[in-house]
This record gives sequence, C-alpha cells and structure tokens, in this order.
Amino acid sequence: MNHDLASIATALVAKGKGILAADETVPTLTKRFDALGIQSTEESRRTYREMLFVGAAEFISGVIMYDETIRQKSSGGVPLAQLLSDQGILPGIKVDTGAKHLAGSSDEKITEGLDGLRDRLSEYRAMGACFAKWRAVIRIADRLPSTACVSANAHALGRYAALCQEQHLVPIVEPEVLMDGSHTIERCEEITGVVLHAVFQALFEQRVVLEHMLLKPNMVTAGMACSRPAKVQEIAVATLRCLRRHVPAAVPGIVFLSGGQNDRTATAHLNTINQLPGPKPWKISFSYGRALQDPALTAWDGRDENLKLGQQALYHRARCNGAASLGTYTDQMEAASAGG
Ligand code: 13P
Repeated sequence: MNHDLASIATALVAKGKGILAADETVPTLTKRFDALGIQSTEESRRTYREMLFVGAAEFISGVIMYDETIRQKSSGGVPLAQLLSDQGILPGIKVDTGAKHLAGSSDEKITEGLDGLRDRLSEYRAMGACFAKWRAVIRIADRLPSTACVSANAHALGRYAALCQEQHLVPIVEPEVLMDGSHTIERCEEITGVVLHAVFQALFEQRVVLEHMLLKPNMVTAGMACSRPAKVQEIAVATLRCLRRHVPAAVPGIVFLSGGQNDRTATAHLNTINQLPGPKPWKISFSYGRALQDPALTAWDGRDENLKLGQQALYHRARCNGAASLGTYTDQMEAASAGG
C-alpha cells in the first residue's frame, strides 16, 4: 500500500469516485437495524459490512470503518481491510471516541478521543488503514453555537489532524453543522463560515499540511424544521460560495457528509454544486453514510438471500453519486433500476 499522504488524499477523490462512510458505532448501527427489525449482533454487523464492501469499487475510492469492523474478517476469512485493498479501495478508520456533553454549555458537544490517539493511529496503520476520520458536531439554535464550542472542537480537529499526519495517515477533517433546527439557509451559511474559519485557523496553528488532508463538511441548507425549505439550486450556490470563502485551494478535496438528507436529494445537491460555473480549486465529491447505505440496508433486510439485492442497491447509489461528483448525474440514470 502506498503511504504517500499526497497520493492517498488525491486517490480518495479520484475522478468519478467518492467515499463510503460505514463507520457507525455499535449503538448507532443497532438503532438503524432496530428500525427494520434486524437483530444487531457482531455477526450480523459483519455480514452487513462485508455486503457493502464488495462490488462498488468502480465508484468507491475508500471506506471508513469502525473499530469493530477493522478487526473483523470476511466470511472467507480475509481481514475486511484487506478485502477492501484487494479491490483497490483504501481502508479508513473513525478515530474519535464520540461527541460528549460540553461542560459549561447548555446543549452542545465536544468530540473526544485525543488521549492515547498516537498509539491507536499507529495500531490502525499496522492493520492497513490509510486514512482516518474525526467528526465534530455544531448545533445551531437562537444563541448557539457558542464560541467555546466552536473553538474547542476546531482545536481538537487540529490536534487530531496533526497526529494523523505524524503517523502517516491522511486525516479527514469533519466539522458538521447539524441540519437539526428551524434555522434559515442564511444562518447556516453564516455559521458554517464561522466554523470553517476556526477549523482552518486551528489546522494552521497545529502545522497541518493542507495538501495531505481532506475536508468533510456539511452542505449549506436550511434546518430540517425551517418553515422555508431551500431549493436545490439555492443550496448549491450557498454551499459553493461558503466553501470558496473559507477553504484554501491547497486542500485537494472536499467530500460532503449527507447529514440526514435523503439519498436522491444528497445526489442532486452534489451534482448541482459540480455543475455551477466559476472556480473550484478542490475536487468535490461525497463521503456519505446514510445517503449511500439506506437503500442497501432496506434491500438486505437482514436476510442472506437478499445480499445481492443489497449490493445492487449500493452499486446504484454509488454510480449516481460518482456521476454527481462529475456533474453528469441524470434522471435517466436515477431511473435505471438498482439491478439494471
Ligand atoms: P451521513 O452521510 O449519514 O451524515 O454520515 C457521514 C458520516 O460519516 C458522519 O460522521
């Protein structure tokens, strides 16, 4: 495996490809399984992840795993990280230990996981990981986010990214401004700008090499409970404007999270952003979790006889998003059946 950080960062945003985020913690994946009545066991989670990891390499450059998964083997006895690299997919790993209550704030979170991180990164690299992910969450409300929340999370992202590069892993820096709430798209743009500014300041202070990282931001959208939902074009324009203002051109790629958008909407937004005129100094692609996985999870439904259907559903979404990363996604492509 080539551990040159610049090549890994570039390979993750190779033409027409993006990242599959499959790094849900056990409680989160269990919640998703529960919603469909699927039993969550170490074995059922392994089966599900193996299903996702095979068959969509044409459009998937990397997969983000959770600690449990990177330690598991396929049904054929191959470590799952190797199953990925054998298909030319870069294995990645979530390394934060979750968003916890921020002391001194009424309803905000700080992402933890810096203690012992150097040793964990070194272990993951030995297990085949090429890149890592750390997610910070920022909530918008009348008087939120607080400066304390933004700066503490930005600082942690900076410390994490510097440690990753020291340990020869490409950091994916994920500051997520949540869609929860009734805020307008204008307010989301303002806060996303504030957060990105703080994050790049922290990355600069911690001497993070921008060419050796990727940014995983939210799109600029209205809150889910906003009385004036934003249109696709409006979201694309606001998102690209905000990124142009706050993300240095040295960053090789921006890979969006889906954040609760439905699968087709997330694809349409990515496509429209890539179709907008004007300079785009970074590759713009996806690192979706729910928007890639949801149809595959539903099609699988926990049954061995549906594994193929699950893979076909993932292939279809990955193909549509791969096209959206080039601005060539169409309704006809969407209409082609998942199996077609
Ligand atoms: P969603 O695309 O479901 O938001 O997940 C992406 C992710 O990795 C969240 O950390």
